Amino acid sequence: MRSFTSFLVAVLLPIVLACENPDTHSCASIFSASTALVSSFCATYTASAITATAAIPSDINSACSGKTTSISEACSCFVTSETAVALVATTSTTEAKTTAKTIIPTTLATSTIKATSVAKVTSSAVAVATTADAAAASAGVGGTIISTLTGGAGVGGTTCTVTAFADISASVSACSNVLLSGITVPASTTLSVAVPTSGALLFAGTMTVEYTPDADYTPIVLKGTNAKVAGLAGAVIDGLGADYWDGEGSNGGTAKPDHFIKLSDMTSSSFSDIKIINWPTHLFEITGCTDMTMSQLILDNSAGASLGHNTDAFDVSSTDGLYVSGATVYNQDDCVAVNSGSNMLFENMCCDGSHGLSIGSISSGVTVSNITFKDSSVVNGENACRIKTDAGDDDSTVSDITYSNIYVSNITDYAIDVQQDYENGDPIGDSTTGITVSGVTFDSITGSVADGGYEYYILCGSTSSCTDFTWTDIDITGGTSSCSPAGDECPST
Ligand SMILES: *[C@@H]1O[C@H](CO)[C@@H](O)[C@H](O)[C@H]1NC(C)=O
Ligand SMILES: *[C@@H]1O[C@H](CO)[C@@H](O)[C@H](O)[C@H]1NC(C)=O
Repeated sequence: MRSFTSFLVAVLLPIVLACENPDTHSCASIFSASTALVSSFCATYTASAITATAAIPSDINSACSGKTTSISEACSCFVTSETAVALVATTSTTEAKTTAKTIIPTTLATSTIKATSVAKVTSSAVAVATTADAAAASAGVGGTIISTLTGGAGVGGTTCTVTAFADISASVSACSNVLLSGITVPASTTLSVAVPTSGALLFAGTMTVEYTPDADYTPIVLKGTNAKVAGLAGAVIDGLGADYWDGEGSNGGTAKPDHFIKLSDMTSSSFSDIKIINWPTHLFEITGCTDMTMSQLILDNSAGASLGHNTDAFDVSSTDGLYVSGATVYNQDDCVAVNSGSNMLFENMCCDGSHGLSIGSISSGVTVSNITFKDSSVVNGENACRIKTDAGDDDSTVSDITYSNIYVSNITDYAIDVQQDYENGDPIGDSTTGITVSGVTFDSITGSVADGGYEYYILCGSTSSCTDFTWTDIDITGGTSSCSPAGDECPST
């Protein structure tokens, strides 16, 4: 008979790619090696929100240096939904009783969420819309600002409502839809859910993630195939950013979770209809996903306007097939940053305060291809349409990139920017040719830049490292322009 261990390892391989390497990381090693021990431990661990190290088996505790965040992450990396389901099915009578008591099956009815709380949430969302946004929206160019969300729905079948963090894992195994209603994610504890295939994870009310100053901590980790993640009307996830923001982002100061939500290895799945506010640094890490849809999102870090930093909204890597439609983003770094992957479409984005719709920065050994940004607006930020590759790096290609119908306003640096001179996250002025950028289309980019801004700024390593650029209907005013070296990648003047 095939041993359970080898079966588990085979199943886990794609997931392991996004996690710590068991060969080099002692915490990952004990989790990947001792299946039986960690499976039963993780079931109770996630079910009981242990944040004190006293309740953790000593061998796990020492391999993980007593870091509850590492343990929580390892549970999410090395224990599959299959094992979690199996465990719940064989829990002791006492646990089974608790489970029965805390799961409240309901048929899904969005009306259970009080209309008054919906009204309150939407009015605060409207308040941050600016004059420039309104101009873009009324002119009918770029994206449409989303100020209210109507809310998503379940997938049919039973909906179990969970109101306490400790009851989540039991419900996930028993119900087609799990509705987290007004949950608090305890400090140092990861809300790690492998959404069951063809099931839904829903949010209602406000979910607050408690303060955890730890750069290794990821508060929310989601996986799934044919899975749906959605908020009901009025759903908000609050990261308590003001408790962390110190103007230094991920470069120093208070330790901050590096990404707030990790969508890991999700396939043919969706994430929609949620308002997320006050994330500490980067918001979404979207990695290892295939055929993923994200829509109807209000991502509002406007409260971090002075002290928020590195608050990227969408960071995407190793993903094939991503469709983002309808996101209104207020933040203080890239609205989108695609670092690797292919076949992505971002449309109807409204980015306010950001560093733009970006490809990169691109380092060695990656492929970025077929990425389109269309029908969007980028206002009150540093850049709008941007491709940046690292100086001195090589063996990477960036190809088939399209920016189409993008409205820009009040951009301080570059409305259109291609630079092959990045190092340590900043341009150094010395561009190189090891990474090629080809097949780039800028079509219908309109609007204006702030005083001192550039309408376009192109700094390529050579005319052969940037090829096949197409410029049509560029109508940006208010700034200067630069393109070097002179060649086919420059717009004809
Ligand atoms: C490019 O990506 C889009 C969005 O995922 C997809 O619909 C389209 O088929 C892709 N084009 C090619 C040539 O693969
Ligand atoms: C322009 O954008 C800056 C942020 O870069 C913002 O502080 C300022 O208020 C904006 N100006 C207008 C007129 O919206």
